[in-house]
This record gives sequence, C-alpha cells and structure tokens, in this order.
Amino acid sequence: MVEISPPCGRLQFLQQRRWLPVTLPYPLTVFIGMWILVFCSIFLWQKNSFDVVRLFGHTAPMEGSVPRLRQMVLNLSDFGAVGDGRTLNTKAFESAVAAISRLRGKGGGQLNVPAGRWLTAPFNLTSHMTLFLAEGAIILGIQDENYWPLMPPLPSYGYGREHIGPRYGSLIHGQHLKDVVITGHNGTIDGQGQLWWIKYRKKLLNYTRGPLLQIMWSSDIVISNITLRDSPFWTIHPYDCKNVTLSSLTILAPVTGAPNTDGIDPDSCENMVIENSFICVGDDGIAIKSGWDQYGIAYGRPSTNILIRNVTLRSVVSAGLSIGSEMSGGVSNITIEDIHVWESRRGVRIKTAPGRGGYVRGVSCRNLTLDNVRVGIVVKTDYNEHPDAGYDPRALPVINGLSFVGVHGRGVRVPVRISGSDEIPVRGVTLRDMSVGISYKKKHIFQCSYVEGRVFGSVFPEPCENFDRYDEQGRLVKLSTNQNATDIDYGF
Ligand SMILES: *[C@@H]1O[C@H](CO)[C@@H](O)[C@H](O)[C@H]1NC(C)=O
Ligand SMILES: *[C@@H]1O[C@H](CO)[C@@H](O)[C@H](O)[C@H]1NC(C)=O
Ligand SMILES: *[C@@H]1O[C@H](CO)[C@@H](O)[C@H](O)[C@H]1NC(C)=O
Ligand SMILES: *[C@@H]1O[C@H](CO)[C@@H](O)[C@H](O)[C@H]1NC(C)=O
Ligand SMILES: *[C@@H]1O[C@H](CO)[C@@H](O)[C@H](O)[C@H]1NC(C)=O
Ligand SMILES: *[C@@H]1O[C@H](CO)[C@@H](O)[C@H](O)[C@H]1NC(C)=O
Ligand SMILES: *[C@@H]1O[C@H](CO)[C@@H](O)[C@H](O)[C@H]1NC(C)=O
Ligand SMILES: *[C@@H]1O[C@H](CO)[C@@H](O)[C@H](O)[C@H]1NC(C)=O
Ligand SMILES: *[C@@H]1O[C@H](CO)[C@@H](O)[C@H](O)[C@H]1NC(C)=O
Ligand SMILES: *[C@@H]1O[C@H](CO)[C@@H](O)[C@H](O)[C@H]1NC(C)=O
Repeated sequence: MVEISPPCGRLQFLQQRRWLPVTLPYPLTVFIGMWILVFCSIFLWQKNSFDVVRLFGHTAPMEGSVPRLRQMVLNLSDFGAVGDGRTLNTKAFESAVAAISRLRGKGGGQLNVPAGRWLTAPFNLTSHMTLFLAEGAIILGIQDENYWPLMPPLPSYGYGREHIGPRYGSLIHGQHLKDVVITGHNGTIDGQGQLWWIKYRKKLLNYTRGPLLQIMWSSDIVISNITLRDSPFWTIHPYDCKNVTLSSLTILAPVTGAPNTDGIDPDSCENMVIENSFICVGDDGIAIKSGWDQYGIAYGRPSTNILIRNVTLRSVVSAGLSIGSEMSGGVSNITIEDIHVWESRRGVRIKTAPGRGGYVRGVSCRNLTLDNVRVGIVVKTDYNEHPDAGYDPRALPVINGLSFVGVHGRGVRVPVRISGSDEIPVRGVTLRDMSVGISYKKKHIFQCSYVEGRVFGSVFPEPCENFDRYDEQGRLVKLSTNQNATDIDYGF
C-alpha cells in the first residue's frame, strides 16, 4: 500500500562510480569521469523527470511522467478509490492522508491522484504532504450538504459570513499544518457548486456555504499548477497563514450566477505570493481580507507582505482585485505587478466602511492593464455590510499610501473613482504614468472626494483637482485647490 523506494539520483551515482576499475589508462579514466560528471549534472538538473530515473533501470511503480516530489509516494487507487464520478471516495482520501501523517518522520508523503473523476465529501490534509493531481485527475465535491461537516465561525468574523452560528467547512481542509503542497499536471478540483448557488438563491441553506480549499493557522503552503473550478463559495481561502505560494493556477466559475465564488481570499495572512495565474470567477478575482468589524478588530491579525504578479483577472460582478471589505485586522505592504483585468466591472477596488477599524496602507500597484472595464481604480468607504448591530461606528479605518504606476488600457468608462469621506479621508495617493482609453465621453470621468495625493507627469484622463500636480522630474507644478472636493457620479 505504502510504496517505499530508495532515494534515487545522487546515491545511485556514487554506487556506480565504485565500479570504475582503477587500472584503466589515465585518458580513459578522465574521459569516463567527465562523461559521468556531465551525465549526472543533466540527471540532477532533471531529477524530477521520471524518464531519467528509468534510464538508470530503477523501477518505481509510478505511471508516466508523475514526478516524485517526496521520498514516499502513495497512489489513491491503492486505497480502494474508484474514479468513476459516482463512487464516494472519502474513506480512500482519509486513509491515504492518515498513512501520510504516519510518515511524518520520513519527510511526509506524496499522494498521487491518477486520471479519473474522484467524487468525495470534505476531507482534511495533514502536514508534510503533497497532493499531486495527474493530468486528467478531477476531484469532485459531493453536492449533498449533509456530507459537509459544520465548523465554528471564523473567530475574526464572529459569524458564518452568511448566517449566524456555524458554517460548512471546505471540501479540502487543513488546520495547524506545516509544509503542504497541492500541485500536479493541471489536474482539477471541482466543487460542483451549481446546486449550492441555486439553494443559496432560494434561501434553502441554514449555514454559510463552504470554500473549495481552506487552510487555517498553517505555514509553508504551496499550491501550484492545478485548476480549481465551481466552488460553492470562495475558492481558495488561506486563513491566518504564513509563507504561502500560489502559482500557475487556473480558477474558474461562471461570471454570473455563481455568488461569492471569489478566486483567492488571503485572510490575515503574512508573506504570500500569488503569481502566473488566470482567474475568471463570479465575484472578486482576488480579495485580500483580515476580519470583520468588532470581531476582526478583536482578533487583530493583519494581511501583510503580499506580492501579486502576472495574474489575469476577470470579474463581471465585482472587481479583478479587491482589498476588503473585511479588513478590520489591517492590510499593509501589498505589491501588485503586471496585472491584466479584462471584461470586468471594476479593476482594483479598496472597500471599507465606518465600523471596520483597521487600516489599508502601503499598497503599491505597477503595470495595471484595464481592458474593457467599467470602473478602473476604486476606493469605496461606505461599504456598509456589518455582522450585527454590535459594531462601533466610531471605529474608522485609516487609508494611507496607495500608489499606481503604469496604468494603461482601453474601453474604460470611469478610470478612477476614489470616494473618501469626511470621516474616512483617503490620503497619500500617488499616480504616475497613466493613460487609459475611455469609452464614455462625459466630463467627470475622473472622480474624487476627500482625497489627498500627488500626480506625476502626464496622466490621462485629466485628474481631478484634489491632487497636487508634479512634472516627470518631480517638480511641483500646481498645488491642489481643494482636497475635499466631491465629484462622484455613481450613475455610470
Ligand atoms: C495508481 O494505481 C493505478 C491502479 O493500480 C494505476 O493504474 C496508476 O497508473 C497509478 N497512478 C500513479 C500516478 O501512480
Ligand atoms: C478535520 O479537521 C477539523 C479541524 O481540525 C476537525 O474538527 C475535524 O474533526 C477533522 N475531520 C476529520 C474527518 O478528521
Ligand atoms: C504543469 O502542468 C503541465 C501540464 O498541464 C505540465 O506539462 C508541466 O510540467 C507542469 N509544470 C510543473 C512545474 O510541474
Ligand atoms: C489547465 O486547464 C485549464 C482548464 O482546462 C486550461 O484553461 C488551462 O489553459 C490549463 N493550463 C495549462 C498550463 O495547461
Ligand atoms: C434548514 O432548517 C429547516 C428547519 O429546521 C429544515 O427543515 C431544513 O431541512 C434545513 N435545511 C438544510 C439544507 O439543512
Ligand atoms: C517563513 O519563511 C521564512 C523565510 O524562508 C522563514 O524564516 C520563516 O521561519 C517561515 N515562517 C514560518 C512560520 O514558517
Ligand atoms: C505569466 O503567467 C502565465 C500564465 O498565466 C505564464 O504562461 C507566463 O509564462 C507568465 N509570465 C512570466 C513572465 O512569468
Ligand atoms: C513587503 O513585502 C515584500 C513581499 O511582497 C517583502 O519582500 C518586503 O520585505 C516587505 N516589506 C516590509 C517592510 O516588511
Ligand atoms: C505589464 O504586464 C503585462 C501583463 O499584464 C506584461 O505582458 C508586460 O510585459 C508588462 N510590462 C512591463 C513593462 O513590465
Ligand atoms: C479635508 O478634510 C479633512 C478630513 O475631514 C480635514 O482634516 C482637512 O482639513 C480638510 N482639508 C481642507 C483643505 O479643507
């Protein structure tokens, strides 16, 4: 069941070397030595490639090109799983994960999910585990909610996001883990969310829907090279985690009629990278969060040091990339680079409200391309959605330090709409190198209210008067006449 094979690669090379007869003539020894050296460099360089392993005559019972990412490799089929799309495989997943948890002292284990349709109820991951989804492997979430366990609300939310009391857990779940990898050859985790969305709309559910993948209080998490689709609720939800890398992911859900299917929601997370991915979903593509009103303030865990680069996003309902609206633990040091938002309602949106508390500071956005987007850059400070009446309306979020450099695109109706308020002014906004082709010829398409900031060089369309103007070299051209001027038109 548990396949234990000797480590390959370096060790094998050392054993081979001992066969070299010492009596060989000197040039031949050098020649053979060099040949082995070259061969081994190639081998080490591709040590994950199974074909090279086969060249050495090593017979690992692994199929095709599935790489060996940990010493111990298990196959879901060996745990009695049947990939016919109908057999329920929860026990197989649970037994395989239990087997891996016993391998902790040996560096953990890799669970291969071969091609097939593997229906399952929610299951938990364990530490030092690699879940590998082969090409054509599809993990299917069971639609019957009776199979979904209930969990206590997230402490920083106080409530299930949609209902008071407990919430459904996620299809794939983990708490207090370390060193977890979910990867593959673009295999799929499919939440089969369609029934959940219908039940939600018909108000047939008594608890908040579960995410597709939720990892809580964990560190050293890598999720890469897989497809996730049709989550019942948010798709990937890392909660209070450290050192998380999300790379080469495809995240899909219908762009309408799939409520709350956010792509990735980093929530109170620190040190995180999201890169090289394509996200097209029914709500925010990425939404950075840190808890909700008084519960989030009490929990007090910010989202910080997050880098998002080379991601293509589409959201017809909400925004490509959001911060908030739950941000009560604070959000800081967010770097956003090389982002393409297409055919969407909004590009980048920061949303908050009185009662949230917390802060959003140090958001730096470089090379943002907006392609047929209604509103490009948005700051909204009256996103009044509260868990209960117990929030403190005097808990005012602080927004300071938002920089946008290199904003380009076409077909945008309102390139900028920053609506601060007397209570929540938006400070320290910087715009540089912006040229956005507009699709709507109206006077006030660059909208501001209670904004303090600076514009460098040429910015198109013409920025509002709330900004101080500088030239390319950073010399002051004109001071703002009225930072608190209000010109917001939600009409278009
Ligand atoms: C897993 O086991 C099944 C059944 O024995 C086999 O067909 C498949 O090739 C194996 N897959 C992997 C990835 O090891
Ligand atoms: C999964 O993990 C959660 C949280 O640790 C726990 O409450 C639950 O009992 C676990 N479920 C199973 C089937 O082990
Ligand atoms: C990612 O998946 C593709 C198959 O879609 C595969 O060819 C490629 O080797 C994988 N990349 C990595 C880094 O595993
Ligand atoms: C992975 O699969 C998705 C969905 O089928 C596809 O859109 C995407 O292009 C694939 N990615 C790679 C790298 O093959
Ligand atoms: C919700 O609660 C009602 C009343 O207790 C019950 O009849 C119904 O079956 C529940 N629905 C679900 C999906 O749990
Ligand atoms: C996160 O990664 C850094 C750098 O690799 C390391 O120093 C730190 O210990 C890690 N933190 C956790 C909680 O694993
Ligand atoms: C950007 O991400 C795409 C996948 O969405 C990938 O094909 C491409 O190589 C990445 N570009 C860079 C520079 O890494
Ligand atoms: C900000 O985040 C980046 C990662 O995106 C990190 O490299 C850098 O050290 C962080 N800066 C501070 C001051 O923590
Ligand atoms: C800007 O980002 C796009 C992806 O959206 C990328 O193709 C392009 O190379 C980037 N440009 C620069 C100057 O980095
Ligand atoms: C703008 O409003 C802010 C916050 O209400 C206030 O502190 C500031 O003095 C006002 N500035 C001007 C120029 O009126």
